[in-house]
Formats: sequence, structure tokens, C-alpha cells
Amino acid sequence: MREIRKKSEMVLFARNARAHGKRIALVPTMGALHEGHLSLVAEARKRADAVVVSIFVNPIQFSPNEDLNKYPRSLSRDKAALKELGVDILFRPAAESMFPPGFKSYVEVDGLSKKLCGRSRPTHFRGVTTVVAKLFNIIRPDLAFFGLKDYQQQLLIKQMVSDLDLGVEIVALPTVREFDGLAMSSRNSYLTAKERQTAQILYRSLCLAQQLIAGGERDLNRIMYKLRSLLGTEPSIRLDYLAAVDPETLEEVKKLRGKVLFAVAAYLGKARLIDNLLVDAG
Ligand code: PAF
Repeated sequence: MREIRKKSEMVLFARNARAHGKRIALVPTMGALHEGHLSLVAEARKRADAVVVSIFVNPIQFSPNEDLNKYPRSLSRDKAALKELGVDILFRPAAESMFPPGFKSYVEVDGLSKKLCGRSRPTHFRGVTTVVAKLFNIIRPDLAFFGLKDYQQQLLIKQMVSDLDLGVEIVALPTVREFDGLAMSSRNSYLTAKERQTAQILYRSLCLAQQLIAGGERDLNRIMYKLRSLLGTEPSIRLDYLAAVDPETLEEVKKLRGKVLFAVAAYLGKARLIDNLLVDAG
């Protein structure tokens, strides 16, 4: 595995790979890699000739009161895992080269970026879409891989790619979970042992929605009430949102019909955790 730190070198590698007819896959990450990231890398390895993984803790997707400086970092472990999976290039640009002083241009997906997580993190998604657009321009990958744990993120990126004719195939892969259902996340490392135990209730609440619907419950208000009651049994959890939304528009649904995305975000200790489950309500 070769490590590239310079944008110009990354451009050259990609240009050369393309000239040799290679299909390039990109897995964009912020490091602190877990099994979720590694499942994306493994799939990328199967589907492309050249696999690029980027590690870049993107400053513009954090607001000033968020955890940019504390974001977990485990570079030597990450490198070993990527090498093991046969990654060709680790791209690790410096923050000053991605966002030099005077940087003024942003990519924003209207509407979608203001829903769900966008309500409490109003500038987060424009930070994500801007950095991903930059990575796409530097590397010009054929494919790019994202996890469905960040459901809203992959939806926004698909919209951006379509709106701006970026010509990258976006592959979104299932959430990888811990033994008790907790969605894997780099931020799980912020949790104390006790909080880690508590955190499983997020996925349990999503599963409860699925069970209730499978059992014939059709009243969404009653379902949401039951989910909130379950989450309420853990007073250390501060809910940001719990919502049942249309999986394409992220608009809240009033009635159960077709596919419904149950999504949750909550603060627990020092962590803000998110999870979601797509339920077929028939
Ligand atoms: O999902 C992430 O880790 C980040 O939001 C991403 C896509 C790497 C952009 O910084």
C-alpha cells in the first residue's frame, strides 16, 4: 500500500490508472476505522482494479462546538487493516491543502441537507458534500462506497452526483453492528462501559418499530409513543430526534405505507449517536 499526502500526486496516480484502463474505487473515511469501514473496503476490493481509501478528518463538517479536535484517531492500526485488505492507495491530504485560507466555494444539496441531522447540525452536510465533491474531482473514481448507517449522507451524495453529473457510481452498504445491535461508529469509543451498555437501546427501539408493524400495528402515533417510552427508560439518553420518514425525501410520514425509514439520533455522554432501520410497512 502506498501512502499519498499530496493532491497533485493523487491526481497523477489516478490519471495513470485510468490510462491503463483500471476501474478506481474510493472509500472516503475520517479514519478510526471499524468493521463497518472495512466492509466497504473489502467490497471495493472485489469491484475495482485500484482501491483508494482516504483518511481526512474534514474540519468543515464540524461546527465550532463539536468534536473536531477530539475525533478519535488510530492511524497505525488503520494502516495495518487497510494493508491487510489489499488497498492500493491511502490518500491522506493535509487540511491546509484541502481548505487553504480564502476557501469560499461549497456544494450544498438543498432541502435534504436541512432535514433529520441537518436540523441540529445545519452546516454539517454542506461540509460533507463539499469535501466528497473535492475528493471525487481529485481522484475521479468510477465507484465510491458509503455506509447506510449514515443514511442521510449517502442519499445526499447520490443526489449531488446526479445533479452535478459527477459520473461516480455510489455504492451504499448495510450497517455493521456490534453483538448487541449497536451500529458501529468511530464515536462509540467516547462511551464509558455503562453508556456502551445503554447505547444498545437505540437499535432496540428501531427493532421495536419493525416488530410492531410486523405484528399488525398500523397506527404510527401509537408506534412512535411506544418507541419514545422505551427510549425514555434510559434517562441518560437525550434524544435529538426520532422520526419515521420517507426514505427518498426524508419527509416525515403520517401513515404507514410502503417503505418507511425509522431514524434516531441521541446524545449519550460525550457521544452523539445515530441509527436507522428501513421497514417495509406493506
Ligand atoms: O462518513 C464519513 O466518515 C465522512 O462524513 C466522509 C464521507 C468521509 C466525509 O468526510
